[in-house]
Amino acid sequence: MKRSYDTSKAWYERAKKSLSAGVSSQFRVAKPHPMFYERAEGPWLWDVDGNKLLDFTLAQGPMILGHSEPRVLDAIQDAMSRGQLFAGQHEQEVLLAEMLCETIPSAERIRFSSTGSEADHAVIRMARHATKKQKIIKFEGHYHGWFDEVAYSVNPTADQLGDRANPNRVPWSGGLPDGSGDHLIVLPWNDIDAVERAFVRHRDDIAAVITEPVMCNQGCIEPQPGFLQGLRNICDEHDAALIFDEIITGFRINVGGAQRHYGVTPDLAVFGKALGSGLPISALVGKARYFDAIESNDVFHAGTLNSNNICVAAALSTLSILLENDEATHHQIVKTGQTLRDRLQALSTIDNQWHVQGPGPMFHAGFLKEPGPVREYRDVLRYDTEKYGRFVRGLADRGVRVIGRGLWYVSAAHTAEHLDQVVDAAASTLKEMQTPS
Ligand SMILES: Cc1ncc(COP(=O)(O)O)c(C=O)c1O
Repeated sequence: MKRSYDTSKAWYERAKKSLSAGVSSQFRVAKPHPMFYERAEGPWLWDVDGNKLLDFTLAQGPMILGHSEPRVLDAIQDAMSRGQLFAGQHEQEVLLAEMLCETIPSAERIRFSSTGSEADHAVIRMARHATKKQKIIKFEGHYHGWFDEVAYSVNPTADQLGDRANPNRVPWSGGLPDGSGDHLIVLPWNDIDAVERAFVRHRDDIAAVITEPVMCNQGCIEPQPGFLQGLRNICDEHDAALIFDEIITGFRINVGGAQRHYGVTPDLAVFGKALGSGLPISALVGKARYFDAIESNDVFHAGTLNSNNICVAAALSTLSILLENDEATHHQIVKTGQTLRDRLQALSTIDNQWHVQGPGPMFHAGFLKEPGPVREYRDVLRYDTEKYGRFVRGLADRGVRVIGRGLWYVSAAHTAEHLDQVVDAAASTLKEMQTPS
């Protein structure tokens, strides 16, 4: 059953000599070596060794319609035939902005960028300017891109966390400027009392609370009932901006984002990943009040490649497909995801540490060393990551690709037959792991 990965390995050895660590994003570093891929279509990926893999990685989320969706590729080709980039306006970006304003509850104004990290950076700047305050509340385990401003407490170890009532700000990277985290207040997530206490302590100095509305990057944890509304109320009370980082949840948990799904409207939000079906486009979205300063040129936002023809065409086409027929494609993704989540969770009869949770279009799977609820980052540390690594390798040997840290993404291209295949592969991997070697 063991597959060969020799060609990938050889390319990795060659890549390391020119490409730093052999990859272009640190998230692609993998043990024993990253895989090299050749082609992708629907739910399938082919690597350079000719292995065909059923893909639940979906390029870390963007491929919501599956790989190489023909209507998206046609739209891209059509746009390309008219040029790539004008450094000027074009009609399609207005159509896309209008579509987003109709679909996303908080969207009174839009700006396009290329990546999620940039968009997060921009909305924090906008929030500071509008509120004339400095401090930002960020939650343990949440990821808001790799820029200095938010590169703290992304995945701290148990030793680094500090007291839950007053968590440490743990730098996530070397090279951060001294003091770059001084404005950050790091809190445990899903605990509205902790947020209230922080507002009492720093009363007039908190510009914004930024949160993934579902803590997708660690454990795929949904907000506790009332938590998002609680954040909304506190921010209203203290004139702080509520920012939803919808880079993963956007178009996935609901076409209108987590804000439409949970019925809580933030002041500002960022969208990316699924918006472009694999092309680099992100959107800063929010209330007009926050965009006034961009319109008056008091807050600067720019980007040479912003809203280029090709990315906008991909986004228009992706969003049109998700919205058509009363969002039928999106409903199908949700149903597929929830079915897969439930069928995988049922495999806990094989291994009682096996635990699956999340809303469905994305969810998390792993092995809990100690039972109990997973509601915040500190709970995520109970997952046995080494054991999950063995599970991931077992799935790969059975032709299934998943993300190593436990997040699963489902697309419109996954059918009942694909679910049967992955559930069989997961069951046989779990059984094999029970057998003493
Ligand atoms: C919630 C969240 N915010 C921001 C980002 C950064 O987006 P990008 O990788 O496009 O810069 C990511 C990326 O995974 C993310 O998951």
